[in-house]
Amino acid sequence: MKINKSKKEYIGARAKLYEVRRKNRRVWREEQKIILKFLREISQINNKNIKILDIPVGTGRFFEFYKKLNFLVTGIDISKDMLKEAEKKNKLLKLNAKLKKGDIINIKIQNKSMDLVLCIRILNLLNFNNFSKALNELVRVSDKYIICGIMICPSLKNEPVLRCINILLRRIFSNFFSLIKGDRETIRHSENQVLSQFKKRSLVIYDKARIDTGRGGYAYYIYCLKKEK
Ligand SMILES: C[S@@+](CC[C@H](N)C(=O)[O-])C[C@H]1O[C@@H](n2cnc3c(N)ncnc32)[C@H](O)[C@@H]1O
Repeated sequence: MKINKSKKEYIGARAKLYEVRRKNRRVWREEQKIILKFLREISQINNKNIKILDIPVGTGRFFEFYKKLNFLVTGIDISKDMLKEAEKKNKLLKLNAKLKKGDIINIKIQNKSMDLVLCIRILNLLNFNNFSKALNELVRVSDKYIICGIMICPSLKNEPVLRCINILLRRIFSNFFSLIKGDRETIRHSENQVLSQFKKRSLVIYDKARIDTGRGGYAYYIYCLKKEK
């Protein structure tokens, strides 16, 4: 199988310490809050045990929510070390999740076999071509809902000139900050491109929430998308 690894591999200490290093950060906590809200809403509308695919599952950061909501869980990740961390949580919570190694560009799961696919913190690690391939796979596997997190460059088309300059300066500052922090691999997709990719696949924005990353020139959205039948 051809695996499309991102440049930064989540192995060894990076996998072991992944959650400890992040869980007190504001963005992480906000993501947890929003995801729980969306999962609750979907669970309430659909009166059954929701089948969810969490890809990339990472360390299983949402497992407690799945347990609470009685979800039937499959988790896929390319890193066996991240899967090991997820497996520990799986056992501890007696979640009974099926965890396996795999690639988001080529998901080994049947068409429409999941009610919901959750995809957080990977779409900005993929170039636009792979982003589009990954989205195809999420749409193929999901029967109804997709929740995904994407950091975008908002369109400046209707902004007044001074505001455009302000946003562009913030973007330059933010890129400089990323370089210093070492997360150079983050790729921001343009808002227009992202929205047209949704439209092309008949995905309707059912709900969305913006997370303030502190990087003014960009916007981080968690989208709750629904497939139009
Ligand atoms: C930033 S972590 C996000 C994990 C989790 N979704 C979260 O929100 O904490 C990125 C994850 O993507 C996984 N990954 C990278 N490339 C992948 C690919 N092509 N297919 C599946 N998983 C991949 C990494 O192993 C890592 O666990």
